[in-house]
Amino acid sequence: MELIVIPTVKVEGLLDMEGLMREMERAFREFLEGHVMMPKRMILDVPGKGNALYMPALVQGYMGFKVITIYPSNADKGLQTSYALMILQDGETGMPLAVIDGDVLTAYRTGAVTGIAAKHLAREDARIIGIIGAGRQARTQLLALTKATGARDVIVYDVDREAAMSYTSWAAGMGLTASVLETPEDVAKRSDILVLATTSKDPVIRGDWLRNGELLISIGWAGASSREVDDSTLLTSDKIVVDSIEAALEESGDIRIPLEKGVIDRRSIYAELGEIVAGRKRGREGLDEKIFFKSVGLAFEDVVAAKYVYEKVSATKSSRGPL
Ligand SMILES: NC(=O)c1ccc[n+]([C@@H]2O[C@H](COP(=O)([O-])OP(=O)(O)OC[C@H]3O[C@@H](n4cnc5c(N)ncnc54)[C@H](O)[C@@H]3O)[C@@H](O)[C@H]2O)c1
Repeated sequence: MELIVIPTVKVEGLLDMEGLMREMERAFREFLEGHVMMPKRMILDVPGKGNALYMPALVQGYMGFKVITIYPSNADKGLQTSYALMILQDGETGMPLAVIDGDVLTAYRTGAVTGIAAKHLAREDARIIGIIGAGRQARTQLLALTKATGARDVIVYDVDREAAMSYTSWAAGMGLTASVLETPEDVAKRSDILVLATTSKDPVIRGDWLRNGELLISIGWAGASSREVDDSTLLTSDKIVVDSIEAALEESGDIRIPLEKGVIDRRSIYAELGEIVAGRKRGREGLDEKIFFKSVGLAFEDVVAAKYVYEKVSATKSSRGPL
């Protein structure tokens, strides 16, 4: 057995967003067709701290699991609010293949899913990307959106103004036009595509702030009883799309809470992303449609990203000798 350890710096150098988006799109189709095995993730609630998630899956001949902790209060200590580690195994033999830093992997795979959602659900003429919550995930969200769409302007709000400022400097370095706005309402009202990537437990936007034609993507998760959007956002959306209906119903407060209150029902969820990718359901059908995509985050997405990195490392090794 030859187990390799792939550290952060290597993962960063090996992942490219466009290539990963292609692989991820294929995996979403396979997920829809039942070729992906993915038992429910285990969530360990750590009182007063946050959660640890254990996420296994088997996809495209590889299996593995990621463990990720989400501790929003770490921000007060100047620490990352989440840490992740990935174990990759051979699906045929079960043999362990690699231990991979999970932080960059998570950020890229979550970005890739957002990119796919935007490709199918955003207006083709989308120009302005709004970001609420300018932390670590927000960077790969923007990276993916610039690959998937023609949008080149970004407007940002974060409760931590310094975080917003540093984000816009970084975005400007990518050649984008970037500015910090004063309120989340300002951002929501001016965006063609709006990403919520906060650690907030309570809604950060209201439905009546959304413009006609806007695509809203929420990736935040701070526990099953937390949410980033309010009831009116669900009610005002012409289409609600999720990565997995099962996961959204079980784990996403954004879907679960309004469902339990009777604000929406199960039929209010229009589609899973895979159904749209596979052409079984239509994505955007009109310029004025308001579409809400909830990304819960699925274990197979991590295995796909880990496979992507592992195969690149293996190719380098066989052409140039040991790492
Ligand atoms: N859907 C997925 O697959 C997936 C994957 C990874 C992370 N996440 C989630 O994405 C979110 C962001 O993760 P991260 O690693 O970027 O966290 P982070 O701590 O690096 O960044 C979060 C940012 O949100 C800001 N924020 C908090 N409350 C806010 C509010 N009410 N309004 C505006 N800004 C606010 C913080 O100041 C911070 O800058 C978390 O909820 C995390 O659990 C989801």
